[in-house]
Amino acid sequence: MVRNYDPDRPVPPEVVDRILGYAVHAPSAGFSQGWGFLVLDEPADRQAFWAATTPEGMGNDSWSAGMSRAPLIVVPHSSRDAYLERYAAPDKGWTDRDEARWPVPYWHIDTGMASLLMLLGAVDEGLGACFFGIPPECTERYRNAFGVPDSHTPIGAITIGYRAEDRLSPSLRRGRREVTDVAHRGRWGAGY
Ligand SMILES: Cc1cc2nc3c(=O)[nH]c(=O)nc-3n(C[C@H](O)[C@H](O)[C@H](O)COP(=O)(O)O)c2cc1C
Repeated sequence: MVRNYDPDRPVPPEVVDRILGYAVHAPSAGFSQGWGFLVLDEPADRQAFWAATTPEGMGNDSWSAGMSRAPLIVVPHSSRDAYLERYAAPDKGWTDRDEARWPVPYWHIDTGMASLLMLLGAVDEGLGACFFGIPPECTERYRNAFGVPDSHTPIGAITIGYRAEDRLSPSLRRGRREVTDVAHRGRWGAGY
């Protein structure tokens, strides 16, 4: 994840198109494709995004300074209703639309997969990117600012741009967990 960008180098429109093209090639349960992407590449729109999603009294830190230099923000949204609708179709048959049928909310999973394709695609295009959360107390203000309907949930947001020098997340000090710590062969707890 990259958290500081060159503000003077916009992402060329054809690259923006390609990044969104990667997103729509993500896998999705039942090929539901219940996602929607808000693309913000105009300075006024990006400014409105940061105004809406920054909690009161915050935004004066280096994280905000670097992130708000990104020339492109994509907000991926998931639509639970699109999945309940898709799986009520005759070939699936879950006409009760009962959410308890779902092992986990695949609408969020699939939108996360689309997000990862955009992150990887950005790197392939020579760009940097960062997935980050929209604070829950700001979601309503964000929806109002951009006319996002209740049917769609922003699962986070992605800044994209040409990378400038940045500071690695302090979280990385935790170190990466080894495969042997997290993988289990044959039986949970049996080791790898
Ligand atoms: C679901 C999710 C939410 C994240 N939220 C934030 C965030 O709010 N702010 C931020 O700076 N980074 C955020 N990150 C980035 C993580 O901090 C980062 O992926 C992690 O530290 C590993 O670093 P790397 O992706 O550069 O390897 C988020 C990543 C994910 C997958």
